[in-house]
Amino acid sequence: MHIRVLGSAAGGGYPQWNCNHPNSRRARAGEPAATQRTQSSIAVSADGVRWLLCNASPDLRQQINDNPVLQPVAAGPLRASPLAAVLLTNADVDHVTGLLTLRESQAFTLYATPRVLEVLAMNSIFNVLNPAFVARRPMPLDSPWQPVASDGALLGLTITAFAVPGKVALWLEDATRPVDIGALTQDTIALEIGGLEPGRRFFYIPACARMTPALAARLQGAALVFFDGTLWVDDEMIQAGVGLKTGQRMGHLSVAGAGGSMALLADLAIQRKVFIHINTTNPILLDDSPERAAVISAGWEVAYDGMQLVL
Ligand code: MLT
Ligand code: MN
Repeated sequence: MHIRVLGSAAGGGYPQWNCNHPNSRRARAGEPAATQRTQSSIAVSADGVRWLLCNASPDLRQQINDNPVLQPVAAGPLRASPLAAVLLTNADVDHVTGLLTLRESQAFTLYATPRVLEVLAMNSIFNVLNPAFVARRPMPLDSPWQPVASDGALLGLTITAFAVPGKVALWLEDATRPVDIGALTQDTIALEIGGLEPGRRFFYIPACARMTPALAARLQGAALVFFDGTLWVDDEMIQAGVGLKTGQRMGHLSVAGAGGSMALLADLAIQRKVFIHINTTNPILLDDSPERAAVISAGWEVAYDGMQLVL
């Protein structure tokens, strides 16, 4: 199984367009220790030819240009794409707006929970995905299924999608009601992905509001876990003076501290742990920060765009 990180930053990317935080300034200046990152997405392939896109980032066009395996092959038809299917783990802007890049009557299968499909259906701009070519399919939760290309051919992957503590997409929040954070609904989904045969599998969890005993049990002994690395500490955006929200309010468990993901995943015997969906304020973005050194010495890696893993 081939895994490629297309985008490792959280919503907004790194640097974010309006961010003047020192992290963003260093990235914008092209400092080698502050590598720019596009918004959250990975691609997975069993055969290295047909790919499943997990989340469609607003930066998808750039990500395809940066990753030749996602481009039409030279000997192929005049309109073609190795992207055979797209799967959404939530309806956040950083995960769905790349669908608009995938217009132009190209066939692929689109998978999401019924809840996220309903939200797409309510937004007629997504009708740019011609239904004659793009089949929208509800994905089951908690039981394994096999994604197919638009012609029905198996992609050679088995997926178990399951809800993790989260919340509705930011743009779906209702200002007149308290937001239910940490709810186990169809709004925030994690993926366990393996090949067709039982064997090595990995987890992709770009958003998670808290650890639960059930989630810890699932992750126990995994070969590879991509986990929500949005913030270093919960009040980081407040401390930095760039926002009013905590990580908790945004539906993201922070990395550091006794209640953070580094500590909570430490004893789960996971072979490879990678932070992804990293916010522009998070010091682990910087190769030369003490926080980066701390995550590395705790056995974690920090995802970067173009990172390739084989499982
Ligand atoms: C998040 O992960 O918290 C969202 O991407 C927020 C947003 O939509 O900007
Ligand atoms: Mn996000």
